Amino acid sequence: MLTPDEFPQFKSRPLVMATGYDYCFAGILEDAGVDIILVGDSLANVMLGLPSTRAVNMDIMSLFVAAVARGAAHTHITADMPYGSDATPESAVSNAQRFLTLGAHSVKLEGAKVEQVKALVSAGIPVIGHLGLLPQTAQSFKQVGAGEAEWENLMQAALELQRAGACAVVLEHMHFELAARITATLRIPTIGIGAGKNVDGQVLVLHDFMGLNQKPPPPFARAFASLRQAGLDGARDYCAAVRAGLFPD
Ligand code: KIV
Repeated sequence: MLTPDEFPQFKSRPLVMATGYDYCFAGILEDAGVDIILVGDSLANVMLGLPSTRAVNMDIMSLFVAAVARGAAHTHITADMPYGSDATPESAVSNAQRFLTLGAHSVKLEGAKVEQVKALVSAGIPVIGHLGLLPQTAQSFKQVGAGEAEWENLMQAALELQRAGACAVVLEHMHFELAARITATLRIPTIGIGAGKNVDGQVLVLHDFMGLNQKPPPPFARAFASLRQAGLDGARDYCAAVRAGLFPD
């Protein structure tokens, strides 16, 4: 089981993070050897068909965190703090403790919430930061840092998260050169999604890299399997076998 004090090793070898939401796929991700499973609040979109990650709360996230913990008992699991759950340092700590009780090993929170990160770290809860595109509050889904004016603020936010004790930081849909500069500056690993190659690790959403969606994955992702097609073929064969009297034997 990867512990936060082992995270610095990913400054010299790539870290692999994948989102996972349920018992079955958590087992697949563990058997495949991913370093960290993120129970992302993206489950609002890909598991529940909701339009926004803001639609999930602690109760909903908790169901999925517990399922992933049952399916991947030997893998580091990080739980996304849902919108509003980390509004104050106190609520961040009590909600994160709930996730740890359910089997998570760290939490991830969106934005430069430095006081929340400090409180979590003081309470012994490992934290992964998240900068760049922040789906919980984003007004647009455009690449972040396209104008160099934002670069200094984002660099400072990354440094503040590191100083506050974050053990890694996700950089989402960020200008590649900015992500590379942040990566070269921080001593904690950066984990990119749509942030280019010059980061310390990558994270992808399960449904994108497994090819589970009807639509093609976003341009920065890649489908490494075609599970929707495989599932469709299996379901059609099942329907046909029952209707033809070929199942049961
Ligand atoms: O919820 C999520 O899936 C995420 C990743 C996109 C990093 O936060």
